[in-house]
Parts: sequence; structure tokens; C-alpha cells
Amino acid sequence: MNGHYEVVIIGAGAAGLMCAAEAGKRGRSVLIVDHAKKPGRKILISGGGRCNFTNYDVSANNYLCQNPHFVKSALSQYTNWDFISLVSKYGIEYEEREHGQLFCVDSAKHIVDMLLQECDLPNVSQRYRCDVQDIEKTETGFRFKADTDTITCDSLVVATGGLSMPKLGATPFGYKIAEQFGLSVVSTSAGLVPFTLHKEDKEDFAELSGIAIPAEITAQDGTLFKEALLFTHRGLSGPSVLQISSYWKAGQTVTINLIPEADVLDLFIQSREKHPNQSLKNTLAKVLPKRLVEVLIERKVLEDKPLKQFNEKQLHEIDQQLQHWQVLPNGTEGYRTAEVTLGGVDTQHLSSKTMECKQVPGLYFVGEVMDVSGWLGGYNFQWAWSSGFVAGQWV
Ligand code: FDA
Repeated sequence: MNGHYEVVIIGAGAAGLMCAAEAGKRGRSVLIVDHAKKPGRKILISGGGRCNFTNYDVSANNYLCQNPHFVKSALSQYTNWDFISLVSKYGIEYEEREHGQLFCVDSAKHIVDMLLQECDLPNVSQRYRCDVQDIEKTETGFRFKADTDTITCDSLVVATGGLSMPKLGATPFGYKIAEQFGLSVVSTSAGLVPFTLHKEDKEDFAELSGIAIPAEITAQDGTLFKEALLFTHRGLSGPSVLQISSYWKAGQTVTINLIPEADVLDLFIQSREKHPNQSLKNTLAKVLPKRLVEVLIERKVLEDKPLKQFNEKQLHEIDQQLQHWQVLPNGTEGYRTAEVTLGGVDTQHLSSKTMECKQVPGLYFVGEVMDVSGWLGGYNFQWAWSSGFVAGQWV
């Protein structure tokens, strides 16, 4: 059916649904269109099905964007506390996990249901399995094809997300719309994604698959995360690796402190005094998984001898090696498993207050489609809520 709406939102994900609810509450006639068969698919699978929907501690420092100030306005107009009160209003039980991360106790489905209820207004329509094409600017707004219908609107909101998880309906459509209207797109890559290793490393470490250790990982730009590291059969994962992957560039090494929580030199010196015949392997097995120590010895990163055969300088060197283990990733697992897309629509074209495009009045971008990527920990959803909310006040 052909038709006219004041607002059309392409993408019924986190940002699109939030924007639709807000525009709907202002009495605007709204249509949400999505090519997927149902809304909020990424929300449903997020956080292991429990959706890490925000964080107790949110600031611009938790985001990567070419303009580090861009996120500030939206994050202050619609804060984590605003979303927490919405969740509370709907009686959704949530819990805090480490680093202030907030998850649903029961199911991410409650978040999608809540957003759909917020959108449940007579002036808000939704259309799924819908193919959007041929977007054109008209004198008063936009015109496009939705399957075989022609739809016109005054404001067009692009909420098509990033490229991660193509299986869930991710497409580059939003970037194409940006380019069609002359906006630049910051080159995209996978973020919050496991590292793959070069063949030899992969073979050596594959047998550690499933082992997790607390670690401190530093990227070449000095960014550091101290969280769990997980060995997998493909390479390295776990929160610290996912976080640092967003700061890593192909060809760079990362530096891993394998024992950030113990004073290893002190352990060596004390152990050497008390048990001079104890092997380095058995000493280290007190602070690292034994199998990992064995692999480091097999790879000749460490030499296994009784402690009495090491002088202080050598023990100091081993300590330094364990604190500065250099790993050269082969790459990342890519968009197939990435939680987020780095890069996207260049924010220099957008108003940070409204998300409207400066050159094309009436055209808005919200959520992950733009060059804003958050850390692991609920920050990407918070960006979707905040950017969707502010655009919803202006469309
Ligand atoms: P989102 O991807 O949610 O929605 C985009 C919508 O656009 C989709 O419905 C899609 O079908 C539609 N679309 C795309 N192309 C289209 C086209 N051509 N035509 C029509 N429709 C189109 N973040 C976080 O803060 N906490 C968490 O726990 C997690 N967990 C998590 C797990 C996994 C496995 C992934 C992949 C991602 C996360 N994230 C996350 C990231 C978070 O899911 C993501 O940042 C937000 O969903 C982004 O919201 P958007 O609305 O921008 O895009």
C-alpha cells in the first residue's frame, strides 16, 4: 500500500525501536520498516540471551569515534539512569555483574517486549520482511520503494546497525544511503571480536582451549584492559581480548601480562629460598594453569630448571617475560562473531544534539550505523538508546 508518514525508520533494532517510541509519543505518524522477519534480533541474542542493556558507569571515554566529543550530548540527554528507570517501570528484573554491567535476570526478550509496548501506539506502524529500495529526496522529504509500494515521508531515520553477524540481517545498507547523500563513511572493521593466531601459535595454544586466566592486555596505542582472557581452538578470546580488539590494527602485536595479580618475582625469590630444588614449572603452576606453563616451556618462552639454578637477574627476566608476553594476532574472527562494527557514517556530518544530517535536513542516523562503537559492557546498547531517543525528539 502506498502511503505517507511523517517519520520512517529503517531498522527495527535497538536504536530504531527507541526512536519510533519517542517519535510516536510526540504524536508523529511513524512507520518502522525492516527486512528481517521480526524486531530486535540482536537484542534477543545479546549478553548470552540476557542482554547487557547498559552500565552503571557510562561516559564518552567508553566509546570509540573519530570525534571523541560527539557522543556527549546524546548520552547526557538520555542517560543510563533513564533506561534503568524504563526497565524498572516495566518491572523487568535486572542484576549487576562485574564492571557495572547490567543484565536482565530472566531474558533479553523482556527488553524487546518493553520496546514494542512503548511503540504500541495507534500512530506507529511496523512492517517486516520488507525490501527498501530507491530512496530519493523530494522537495518536502523522501520517497522510496517498500517492496512494490511507494512510501513518502518527511523525516527518514537510518537505524540499520553495523555489519556484525550478517546471519542476523546485518547489511551495509545504511552506509550506502549515507554515500548516496554525499556523506563520508569511516572505513569499517570488526570490533569486540576474538583474535585468530598464526598457524604455529594456533597449534600450540589450541590444546589450552577453554582455559581462562585473568590478564592485562595492552594495545600499541597504550590502551589497556584487565579482564579475563580465554584460549579458544581458533585463538584468543574473553573480555580482555574483545575489548582490546577494538584498538588493534592488522600487523600489530598486543602485550599480555599473564599474571597481573601476583608479584611473580617475589614468588620466585621466596620459593627459591624455601625450596631451591623446586622447578620453575611447579612454581609457576601456583599462579598459572599448569598446561599453559608447559606450553610456554615447550615453546622455549621459559626454561624449566630448579629454582636454585636461576640467578636474580634471570628470575627478573622471566618475570618481565610473563608480564610482557608479545602476541602477534593473525587477524580477527571478523564480522561473523564480532559484537560491533568500528567505523561507519562519519559523525562530522551529523548534529550531536539531534542526529540529523547537517547537509540533508530530515535525514537522521541513529545507533551503530554511525562511527560510534562502545566498549563491551552495555555501552553499545546505551548508545542505541541515547541516539534513538534524541532523534525521536526531533524527527
Ligand atoms: P541493530 O543491529 O540492533 O538493528 C539494525 C536493524 O536494521 C536490524 O533489525 C536489521 O534487520 C535492520 N536492517 C539492516 N539492514 C537492513 C536493510 N537493508 N533493510 C531493512 N532493514 C535492515 N551490546 C551491548 O550493549 N550489550 C550486549 O550485551 C551486546 N551483546 C551483543 C551480542 C552479539 C552477539 C552482538 C552481535 C552484538 C551485541 N551487542 C551488545 C551490540 C548491540 O547488539 C548493537 O550495538 C546494537 O544492537 C546496535 O543497535 P542498532 O539499532 O544500531 O542496530
